Amino acid sequence: VMQKRLIVVSNRLPFQLLEKNNSVTLKESDGGLVSALKSYFETSGPQGTFNSKWWIGSADFPEKRWKKYIAQEQTSSFSVEPLFIEKKTYNKFYNGFCNATLWPLFHYFPSFVEFDEETFKSYEEVNRHFADKLLTILQPGDTLWIHDYQLMLLPGMIREQRPDATIGYFLHIPFPSFEVFRMLHRPWKEKIINGLLGADLIGFHTHEYVQHFLKSVQMVTGYDYQFRTVFLKDRIVKADLFPLGIDFDKFHNATRSTEVTTLRNSIRSNFEDKKIIFSVDRLDYTKGITHRLSGFERFLELHPEWRERVVFVLVVVPSRQIISKYNERKKLIEEHIGRVNGKYSTLKWQPIIYRYNHLSFDELSALYQVADVGLITPLRDGMNLVAKEYVASQTTQGVLILSELAGAANEMGEALQVNPMDREEVSHAIHTALIMDASEQQQKIEVLHKRLREYNVIHWVNDFLKQLEETKEHQKAQQ
Ligand code: UDP
Ligand code: G6P
Repeated sequence: VMQKRLIVVSNRLPFQLLEKNNSVTLKESDGGLVSALKSYFETSGPQGTFNSKWWIGSADFPEKRWKKYIAQEQTSSFSVEPLFIEKKTYNKFYNGFCNATLWPLFHYFPSFVEFDEETFKSYEEVNRHFADKLLTILQPGDTLWIHDYQLMLLPGMIREQRPDATIGYFLHIPFPSFEVFRMLHRPWKEKIINGLLGADLIGFHTHEYVQHFLKSVQMVTGYDYQFRTVFLKDRIVKADLFPLGIDFDKFHNATRSTEVTTLRNSIRSNFEDKKIIFSVDRLDYTKGITHRLSGFERFLELHPEWRERVVFVLVVVPSRQIISKYNERKKLIEEHIGRVNGKYSTLKWQPIIYRYNHLSFDELSALYQVADVGLITPLRDGMNLVAKEYVASQTTQGVLILSELAGAANEMGEALQVNPMDREEVSHAIHTALIMDASEQQQKIEVLHKRLREYNVIHWVNDFLKQLEETKEHQKAQQ
């Protein structure tokens, strides 16, 4: 019998390995992609329709540490296969083309984009490295599912060698309008589009991203498309939307966990009769943290009656620290916090509580639960899972303020939606959230819960894989 294997590929693996006193410990990776895939692997169990599941990604640790780790323990529901890539090449790939070219461009920060032939070469090299590895392990019956902007050339590299392979691809960030995408150098954008077209099915979070992609395909390659099908010379490729969900039960059931409850109560008692506003993001200029601070500052200015009655708990998770735009952002955020706290603090109150650190699940959960308001205002975000997790963590109350420029806004019409650039609007939404009556809060939360529970992360995976299978059948019928 043919073995059915699911091979998931992403640049980021679910953990990093650290060494302490000669033994190896895990550090969990941050970000939405890892959250989603990990939830899927952990809740779907080892069986399902697949005989085995693999997760392949680049190692953020030396090979000898990995050897020590596997000697020490084994993961259960899936196998991890790290790729060891030469450091210099990897750094140019990661800090260069991925996060100083593609990331800012695809998030509509064209002035932040660096154009450097060298880093594109490293991008090709790392993608090639993944391809070489995959070609040694791919067998008939395998389903390959490649994730995100770090690996856009990979589907094409596999397709060249294995015309019959089943390849899915998912983009976790926005696909920008062609007017922005076209700023890439000509050979780069051609290679990127052709790389993606190596897949059978290409998934995006929203309808707009799908449309932008199809338009770019047409402009760059001249291939025609109808509805969501692209017609290549010898086969069809589908592009479609699959809005990513969360592990709803994990966050919702945490309202009953004793550890989380203890933490939540201790946070609550620190702030007694105050309302708590909460946000958490990786430190990234796309997250709109300085604009958010301006909105909160404006709120304190316009509403002196709320001073000493509200705190803003702002958690920022370190990310991509070597890149200068990230480093600069950290300084701007910290200066801004200093200014607001300096201006409004009293002897018994400080408006902003700032933490620059990774959170454990229990801490994150407790903060979500205790927060009266979730203030999530990215300037641009592919999806934004934090918004969904915040809502899932409420029992009956809690108000989400959400940027209309996050992919998640499409599915969360019940949130207070704002233009994150407009501090008046943000300030006004904060006020509206703080005075919203309990029944209205509950009503909104219930509607959102129903939707988040139904379109959870398992639904997302199954939906994508089902359509991938259908696309393969459709291709066969055409031959
Ligand atoms: N998260 C994390 N570490 C933390 C705090 C949060 O990994 O210290 C998780 C959070 O639970 C969420 C993800 O990081 O699932 C962030 O995903 P999102 O889509 O909001 O943004 P991204 O970081 O992917 O841009
Ligand atoms: C976003 C990207 C992911 C990435 C994550 C964390 O969610 O879409 O691909 O893994 O950020 O960023 P990092 O650079 O640490 O992997």
